[in-house]
Amino acid sequence: MSIQDIFGLSGKVALITGAGSGLGRAMAEAVAEAGATPVCFDRDAQGLAETETQLSARGLSCVVIAGDVTNETDVDAAVATIDQRFGRLDILFNNAGIGDPVPGLLHEHDTENWKKIIDINMNGVFYFARAALRIMVRQGSGKIVNTASMWGLAGSSSVFPMAGYSATKGAVVNFTRELALQYADKNIQVNAICPGFFVTKLGPYDESEFVRLTTDFTPMKRLAQPSEIKGTALYLASSASSFVTGACLVIDGGCMAK
Ligand SMILES: NC(=O)c1ccc[n+]([C@@H]2O[C@H](COP(=O)([O-])OP(=O)(O)OC[C@H]3O[C@@H](n4cnc5c(N)ncnc54)[C@H](O)[C@@H]3O)[C@@H](O)[C@H]2O)c1
Repeated sequence: MSIQDIFGLSGKVALITGAGSGLGRAMAEAVAEAGATPVCFDRDAQGLAETETQLSARGLSCVVIAGDVTNETDVDAAVATIDQRFGRLDILFNNAGIGDPVPGLLHEHDTENWKKIIDINMNGVFYFARAALRIMVRQGSGKIVNTASMWGLAGSSSVFPMAGYSATKGAVVNFTRELALQYADKNIQVNAICPGFFVTKLGPYDESEFVRLTTDFTPMKRLAQPSEIKGTALYLASSASSFVTGACLVIDGGCMAK
């Protein structure tokens, strides 16, 4: 196999949640450039339109579906639409997520905010993985790439306190390992990406104190741009990672090496 064949995604269909912004948009771009059809899912219709415009400016196209990852009906309808239109689903980037709505110490944590982050960062990941796996098991192949976080591997309080975020991202890491084992003999690979600090709408990257704190914590002494996730995304979505499953790739400028 040539290196183009190993990394190429021609004829593949990739579903990306949270593709209306940041890392999800970069993932959509990566798979489109490699020849796949990206199906971009997000609750932000304006963000989806911007993703579509950005891709089309570069001669790439995508399908957009507006919906909420916490709504099982939206999730199942999106996957059914893909099945009807393409008859296959090769890649799922389970990427939509939020940070703690109000970061702080746990004894002051609000129950509603706890439930909200669990609903998006965990339940949404479960709904989409289940729906995608129904097709992947039927077709006898597939790739699932869950976006966790470096805060799924360590407590976030070394920079700022986010109990809900750390708990949900740790859950995504171990959910990834469990699914990898469940589907290892079914030609379906399940891996996770654990990003460090990427400049997106997830955090207040327009606040100088936040930028100073996060940059200082990062051994490479800079923050990442969303485009820096593209190589990892393509690696885990393509046959380049054909013998990789249950892995959590840390892309963090050295934070977790400390
Ligand atoms: N940016 C970082 O520094 C960083 C670090 C580690 C992990 N992550 C993870 O990367 C993923 C992508 O985040 P990002 O940095 O691109 O942030 P972002 O805020 O720029 O993008 C997240 C996207 O998810 C969408 N979304 C949120 N809730 C949704 C819902 N209920 N239904 C449908 N769509 C929803 C948003 O509309 C948005 O378009 C998240 O899971 C996040 O936790 C980001």
